[in-house]
Amino acid sequence: MLERIEEIRVEGSAAIEAAAGTAELEELRVRYLGRKAELTAILRGIAELPAEERGKVGGSANKVRKELEALLESRAEILDASELESQLAEDRVDVTLPGAPARPVGHIHLITRTTRQIEDVMVGLGYRVMEGPEVEHDYYNFTALNHPPGHPARMLQDTFYVQSDPEVLLRTHTSPVQIRSMEAQSPPIFMIAPGKVYRRDSDATHSPMFHQVEGLAIGEGITLADLQGTLDEMLRAIFGAGRKARMRPHFFPFTEPSVEFDVSCFQCEGTGTLVDGARCNLCKGIGWIEVGGAGMVDPNVLGFVESNGYDPERVQGFAFGMGVERIAMLRHGVPDLRRFFDNDVRVLEQFA
Ligand code: DAH
Repeated sequence: MLERIEEIRVEGSAAIEAAAGTAELEELRVRYLGRKAELTAILRGIAELPAEERGKVGGSANKVRKELEALLESRAEILDASELESQLAEDRVDVTLPGAPARPVGHIHLITRTTRQIEDVMVGLGYRVMEGPEVEHDYYNFTALNHPPGHPARMLQDTFYVQSDPEVLLRTHTSPVQIRSMEAQSPPIFMIAPGKVYRRDSDATHSPMFHQVEGLAIGEGITLADLQGTLDEMLRAIFGAGRKARMRPHFFPFTEPSVEFDVSCFQCEGTGTLVDGARCNLCKGIGWIEVGGAGMVDPNVLGFVESNGYDPERVQGFAFGMGVERIAMLRHGVPDLRRFFDNDVRVLEQFA
């Protein structure tokens, strides 16, 4: 009996040492220590042995059982670790690889694209692109742009103010960059300033945040005729060859005279009527579509930057400003400006 136990020990431990995987190890556990294992049967039969053998057989069988248990456990640890290792190696993913199928990379947002298109034309005309802060001082947003103290745009219901300082606000237009640019550069200056602006407004054609492009040209002998030519050129680049610009009298605090400018309708070719005789729905039969505001820079504005070389007696020029969303909506027939900012890819993908 003792010999048999020793055989089981030798055979069992060799098999366990040689086990190549956890599944095989489990089989060995069942074979050597399971309910039907020979060693288990020996241990169970101890009571029936002659009294003098019980001690020895029981002791040695138990020792072998413990030894095999310990061996199984340490072998299991080794196999577990190496199986985990190879599993990890096998499942390794290279997160830098493109997915399958490769997803198309994104594209520039229509508002950015429209802005860049305007930048391109204007850079072609010799303008520099300048930027200013979106959180602005009342001085640049209003005061230096000749807004009187009680001007309605200054009111809380129109403008977002910073709570801690009544002189600080989210700029309501890109026009403050006119002043900042003139402070930074003496005349002549030809610059445009694209960027975000903020107003307390929200409906299908107004969003509390939107984009404008500002333009400024100051030098000696610059006239309203130069503004007309510049607008013609710019609107043709944006809306297509054959377009014309039209100026209508208007009022802005920082320009004198002030105008609003329109582009001839690109849907009805400025006739107000479609080929089938129906009234053009884009320009509402007028033949012109409003694009922005402009004018000759008020000498009072130049007075705020006189020490930077802008002597109102010597230099003059024009400024203009327009909304980027409006241009994009017109050109692409987008009915609701808020769709630009919903981040719905089904909308945005159409403008790839
Ligand atoms: N800042 C004006 C606005 O947001 C637009 C504008 C009008 C800009 C006339 C100009 C300008 O530079 O000359 O409504």
